[in-house]
Amino acid sequence: MKTLVTNSINKASSYIKKDEIVAFPTETVYGLGANAYDEKAVKKIFKAKGRPADNPLIVHIANKKDIEVLTQEIPDTAKRIIKKFFPGPITVILKKNEIVPDIVTSGLDTIAIRMPSSKIAREFIKTCGVPVAAPSANLSGSPSPTSFIHVLDDFKGKIPCLLIGPNAKYGLESTVVDCTGSVPVILRPGVVTLEQLRKIDRRINYLRKPKNIKSPGQKYRHYAPKAKVRLISDFGFRISDFKSSTAYIGFHKLNNEVLERLRDFKICKGLNDYAKNLFSFFRDCDARGIKVIYCQKVPQKGIGLAIMNRLRKTSK
Ligand code: TXA
Ligand code: MG
Repeated sequence: MKTLVTNSINKASSYIKKDEIVAFPTETVYGLGANAYDEKAVKKIFKAKGRPADNPLIVHIANKKDIEVLTQEIPDTAKRIIKKFFPGPITVILKKNEIVPDIVTSGLDTIAIRMPSSKIAREFIKTCGVPVAAPSANLSGSPSPTSFIHVLDDFKGKIPCLLIGPNAKYGLESTVVDCTGSVPVILRPGVVTLEQLRKIDRRINYLRKPKNIKSPGQKYRHYAPKAKVRLISDFGFRISDFKSSTAYIGFHKLNNEVLERLRDFKICKGLNDYAKNLFSFFRDCDARGIKVIYCQKVPQKGIGLAIMNRLRKTSK
C-alpha cells in the first residue's frame, strides 16, 4: 500500500469519507483515525496497530455539541470539566449512546471523548464531518508518536494517508477522567493535572493501583522502547553504571567523564520539556541500538505524575 503523506486537510479527510484510516497530528501525540460511526473503518485501526479488541478507542470531536449526540447524560462535574478544559489534552468517559458502534468502545457501555486543542486536528475532524475514533498512531506497545516521522517509522506502507503537522506540543497522551461514577476518577494522568481537576471537584482522585481496571489500556505494557528503562533518583547513579550502550534523560548537568560514556543524552529544561521529549528520545535510542536508558525520576506533582506513570510502565 502506498502511504500518501500530505498537509492537505481536504485530501486527508476524503480518505475518512471513503471508510479509510488516516494518521493526524494533535497537541498530545499523533492519532490514527477512522469514522467513529463506521464499524468496518474502525476495524482497520485495530488491525493496523495490532491492538487487542478489548482496548477501546477515544472518539475525537470538533464541536462540543457532538457530546450530546454520543452520550446519554452529562453529569454536572463532567459539564464543568468540559467547560474548563475542552478543547484540550483531556478525555472524559461518559455513558455512551446507541449510535456508537460497540467496536469503538470494545463493548463497554461508556465512551471516551476528546476535543483536541490542536487547530489542525479540529479542522481535520470538522472537515471529516463525523466524530473520529482514534488511538495513538503507534504500533501497539511501542512509544506514542510525537512527530510525523514516528508515524512513518511505524506505518509507512501500512496506512493509506498521513496528515502531517507540527511536532506534538505536549508529547504525552491526554488525561483520561472517568465521569460515570459519583465522583470523577483519573484513569490516566496527563498534561491536565490532578491539581487542576481538583479545583473543579476536591474529591477527584487518581488511584495508581485501582481495584478493578476501568481503563482496559492500563493493563497492557505501553510506551516501551526496546531498550531497558532504569529509573534513577537524584543521587542514584554511579558513573560506573554507564556502560557502553547507555543513554540518559533528565535534569542533571552531567560532567565530561559521564558524557563521554553515554551514547545519547537529553538534558531537559523542565518538566514540560521532559514530557515533550520522552517518547521521541525512546525512539531515538532504539534507532541507535541503545541497550539501557537511565531516566531521572521526578516528584509526582503536576505533570510529574504523568511522566512517572509513563516511566513506570516502560520500566516494568
Ligand atoms: O492524547 C490522546 O489521548 C491520544 C490522541 C490521539 O488523542 N490518544 C490516545 O489513545 O492516547 P489510546 O488509544 O492510545 O489511549 C486511550 C486510552 C486507553 O488506555 C483506553 O483503554 C482508554 O483510553 N479508554 C478508551 N475508552 C475507554 C472507556 N470507555 N472506558 C475506560 N477507558 C477507556
Ligand atoms: Mg496508545
